[in-house]
Amino acid sequence: MTDLSRPDTIAQTAARPEAKPDAIAPPLWLLAELTYRCPLHCVFCYNPTNYTDHSRELSTAQWIDVLREARALGAAQLGFSGGEPLLRDDLEVLVGEARQLGFYTNLITSGIGLTDTRLDALKAAGLDHIQLSFQDSTQELNDFLSSTRTFDLKKRVAASIKAHGFPMVLNCVLHRFNLPHVDKIIDMALAMDAEYLELANTQYYGWAHTNRAQLMPTAGQLQEAEAVVNRYRKEIGERCKIFFVVPDYFETRPKRCMNGWGAVFLGIAPDGAALPCHTARSLPGLTFPNVTDMPLREIWYESDAFNRFRGFGWMKEPCRSCDEKERDLGGCRCQAYLLTGDPANADPVCDKSPEHEHVVQVVRAAATRTPAQQITKEQPVLFRNDANSRRLAAAGDGHPPDHPVSRGERT
Ligand code: FES
Repeated sequence: MTDLSRPDTIAQTAARPEAKPDAIAPPLWLLAELTYRCPLHCVFCYNPTNYTDHSRELSTAQWIDVLREARALGAAQLGFSGGEPLLRDDLEVLVGEARQLGFYTNLITSGIGLTDTRLDALKAAGLDHIQLSFQDSTQELNDFLSSTRTFDLKKRVAASIKAHGFPMVLNCVLHRFNLPHVDKIIDMALAMDAEYLELANTQYYGWAHTNRAQLMPTAGQLQEAEAVVNRYRKEIGERCKIFFVVPDYFETRPKRCMNGWGAVFLGIAPDGAALPCHTARSLPGLTFPNVTDMPLREIWYESDAFNRFRGFGWMKEPCRSCDEKERDLGGCRCQAYLLTGDPANADPVCDKSPEHEHVVQVVRAAATRTPAQQITKEQPVLFRNDANSRRLAAAGDGHPPDHPVSRGERT
C-alpha cells in the first residue's frame, strides 16, 4: 500500500509547487481503485471498513471514460489499485488505454494472480511500473498479517516482475510487529533487486485505525528502525532508494495531507465515487459525486466535495490565524474527523491543537504495552474480510470517530 497521504513518498513524486488557494490547478495523480475485492485480509488495509456497502464496480467502458476525462483534465500519473486490481480481468485493456492516452502507469498489487501470462500481457499493454506489497520479511508474520499463505508466492512473483524487466517498488507497511525486522526487510528488497523500497509506517485510517492499539509502535522502535535505514542508505548508495517516513502520531506538526485537498490527487472508488483522498468517503456531511452522474471536469472544479477544504476559508482556530497554515494546510481532514469528530478541526497531530493530548495518550499507551500484550485473546486484531466489514457496516462503523464503540467479536 503506497502511503498516498504523504506528499514525500513515491506516490507523490508528481507533486507540484504549492498552488494558490484561489487558483484551482488540475489533478496530476489519478488513482483508479478498480475493486475492493482482495485475496488478502490485511489488518492495516486503508480501504473503508464498510467496503461491503460499496460493492458495485464500474464497467470497462466506464473506466475508459474516466481515464480519458482525467487525462484531458491534465492527470499524468495513474495508479491501478484496489483491493487487488488483478481481480479485474480487464486490467490489461485499461493499461493499454492508459498507455495510449500518455499516462505513466503503476500497478499497485499484492502479487496474487500476477502470473507470467499476465505479466506478458501487461508488458505488451505498456505498463510502466509495479509496486509489490510484502507484509514482512518472514513467512510467519507475512502470512499472519494477511491471513493467507502467500509469502512464497510473493517471492516468486517478485522474481517474475524483474525477469519481465519492470522497475519494481517493494512496499512494506511498518508497525510494532515488524519494525524490529527492518534490516531483514531491506535485505529482502536488495536480494530481489527492487529499485525502490517503501517502508510505509502505518497511517491510522480504515482497518489500521480499527487495529491501532495493536499496531502502534513505540518511539524507541521507530528510532531504532530509522537508524538502521540510515545505515543501509550509506552502505548501498543508489542501489535501492529507501523511503521511510515517521508516522505522524510521533510528530508535533501535521503532514500536508495529499498536498492539499483537491490539489493534486483524484481518486476514483470502485463504484465510481470521486474522492479527494482515499478515505474521504468516511467524512460526514459530504456527498461525493459519481463519475457516472457528472463529468470529471465538473466534479474537480465545481463540486462541493472537492471545494469544501480547498484554500483556507473553511479553517477554524487555531489553524485560521496560524502562521504555519500555508505549510501544512491544517493537516489531514480524515484524521481530524477520526480523532476529534469534526473534519474542519485542526489535525490533532499538531501540538497547537486543543486535542493534541489525545494523540500523546495513544503514543504513551503504546509505550506501556509489552510484546506479550501485542495480540491477546482480549484484544486480537481485526482482519479485513467481508464478514467483519458487514459487521462494522451494520454497526454504523464505516470510519468511526475516535470514541469507544462496540465492535462485536474480533476474529
Ligand atoms: Fe488526509 Fe483524507 S487522508 S485528508
